[in-house]
Amino acid sequence: MNDRPSRSYKSRQSFDWRTAPFQHEIKSYTPLPDGRPRALPRIQFDFPPETKAQRERRETQRVAVRNEFIRTWKSYRAYAWAEDELKPITGAGLESFGGWGATLVDSLDTLWIMGLKEEFYEGVQAVAAIDFGKSNMKTVSVFETTIRYLGGMLSAYDLSEEPVLLEKAVQLGEMLYRAFDTENHTPLNWLDIEKAKDPEHSAFKAETNICFACLGSLTMEFTRLAQITREPRYYDAVARITRLLDRTQDTTRIPGLWPTNVDARNEEFNTSRHFSLGALADSTYEYFPKMHALLGGLDPVYRKLYADSAAKIDTHLLFRPQLEDEHLSASLLFCGDTHSSRPNEATLEPEMQHLTCFIGGMFALAGRLFNTPSHITLGEKLTRGCIYAYAAMPTGIGPEIFKVIPCADRSSCPWNATHWEDAILRGHGTKYSSSAAQIAAEKGLPKGWTGIRDKRYLLRPEAIESVFLLHRITGNQDYADAAWDMFTSVVSATRTSYANAQLLDVTGQTGR
Ligand SMILES: *[C@@H]1O[C@H](CO)[C@@H](O)[C@H](O)[C@H]1NC(C)=O
Ligand SMILES: *[C@@H]1O[C@H](CO)[C@@H](O)[C@H](O)[C@H]1NC(C)=O
Repeated sequence: MNDRPSRSYKSRQSFDWRTAPFQHEIKSYTPLPDGRPRALPRIQFDFPPETKAQRERRETQRVAVRNEFIRTWKSYRAYAWAEDELKPITGAGLESFGGWGATLVDSLDTLWIMGLKEEFYEGVQAVAAIDFGKSNMKTVSVFETTIRYLGGMLSAYDLSEEPVLLEKAVQLGEMLYRAFDTENHTPLNWLDIEKAKDPEHSAFKAETNICFACLGSLTMEFTRLAQITREPRYYDAVARITRLLDRTQDTTRIPGLWPTNVDARNEEFNTSRHFSLGALADSTYEYFPKMHALLGGLDPVYRKLYADSAAKIDTHLLFRPQLEDEHLSASLLFCGDTHSSRPNEATLEPEMQHLTCFIGGMFALAGRLFNTPSHITLGEKLTRGCIYAYAAMPTGIGPEIFKVIPCADRSSCPWNATHWEDAILRGHGTKYSSSAAQIAAEKGLPKGWTGIRDKRYLLRPEAIESVFLLHRITGNQDYADAAWDMFTSVVSATRTSYANAQLLDVTGQTGR
C-alpha cells in the first residue's frame, strides 16, 4: 500500500542562501569517514511473542497515546496552523522559534510513526511553503533552529523519503551554515538573518561565551545532512567542533568534562567552574554515543569523548539519594551539578533537573553500543531515579529542579531523620522559625528531599524518553508500566480544552 500522494510539492524560498556570503574561507573540508560502516551491537531486547492479554493492554495504551496526540494536532491545525506554537489555554498561535512553524516541522516524524499519513502529507505541503529566506525575527538561535527544524525535516525525510523535505533541509542548512562563518569556524549563538544575507556584512566574530550544548549539539543534524547530500561542507562544519572538544577534553577544571559555558573564540575551556548534565550542556554529551552509531563506528573519537566524560560523570555528578526506604534508595541514582572553584577540585551540588533525566537513556544506549554492561546498570538506576521523582509527587509528575540528600557511600546509606531535618533547616535559612517537619509539609518535600527550587512541569519529554529506551533495551515490563503511569499523570494534570499546558506546581499545592 502506498499512501503517498502523486502530486509533487512546490518549495518556496524568497532568498537562495547558497548566494549568501561566507567570508572566512575554508581551504579543505574534512571528509566523512571512509569505509564500510561497522556492524554495531544490537540495541533492542529480543522480545518474546506477546500473550493475548499483554497485547490487548499495550494496544489500549497505544491508542490512548495516539488519541491524545490527534486531539492536540487538531487544535494546532485549527487554531495555529504553521505557527511555531499553540497556546494551550487561550488557543492562540505563538511565534517563538523563527516563525517557521516549529510545531509543524517537529511533529512530522510523530505523524509518520503514528500512521497519520494524510496529516503527514498535509504537513509536508505546509513545510514546502515555509520561506526560510526570511524570518519575522531579527535573529534566530542556531542551536534551537538546528535541533527543531533541521532535525525535524531530516528525520521526516529519512522516514518518508519525500524529496521536498530534503530540499527544505538543504535550504535551511545553507542558512545555518553561515553561523560557522567565524574566524575559527565555531558557530554563532544567534544568527542575524538580514545581516547574514548582506554581501558586505562586517565579519562575524566567534563567541566568547557560548553554552556547551549550543556548541556541541549540532553534530547529528549536520552529519546526517552531509550523508544524504554527499556535501562535505556540512560535515566539516561539525567535525571541526568535535576535534576542538577532543583537544580540550583534558584541559578543563574537571578533565574529561566541559563546563556549561565556554569561550569558543579563544578555545579556552578552563576558566568556567560550573559543570552539569542539565541545562546548557546536556545534548552535547547525549550526541557522543549517537554520533558513534550514526557514523557506523567509523570515527573512534566519539567513543573516546563518551568514555572519558562518562567516567567523570560517574565519579563527580552521580549520587545515590538518602531516602527513608533504604532498599528503594539503593536502586536509584540522580545526577547533580558540580562546581570546581580550584582546578581539579569538584564539589557536588545534589540538585537534579528534569532535563537531566535524558541521562539514563544515554548510559543504557551507550552501554549497548560500547558493550559496557555496567553503564546499562547506571542507566537503569538513573531512569529509576526519575520514575521515583515522578511517583513521589502528588500529581505523579516530577519537578523541574529539586534537591535531595546525597549518600556519602553508594553501597550503604541508612536513613537518618536528623540529618535530613538539619539539611532542610540549613537550606531554608533563618527566616523560617518553623521546624523542619513544618517546612517539609509546607513545601511538599518527601522524606530525603531538601528543596524544590522549581516546582513546574514544562511538558518536558526527557524522563519518559529514558523510560522508553530502557524498556526497549532491557525488555523489562516495569518500564512500560512506569511510562503509562507517567503518561496518565501528565494528561490528567495538563489537559486543556485545546491541548496540554505547563503545570505551575507539581506538588499540587497551588493551582495551575
Ligand atoms: C587555561 O588554559 C590556557 C591555555 O591552555 C593556559 O594558558 C592557562 O594557564 C589555563 N588556565 C588555568 C586557570 O588553568
Ligand atoms: C544522623 O545525622 C546527624 C546529623 O547529621 C549525626 O550527628 C548523627 O550522628 C547521625 N546518626 C547516625 C545514627 O548516623
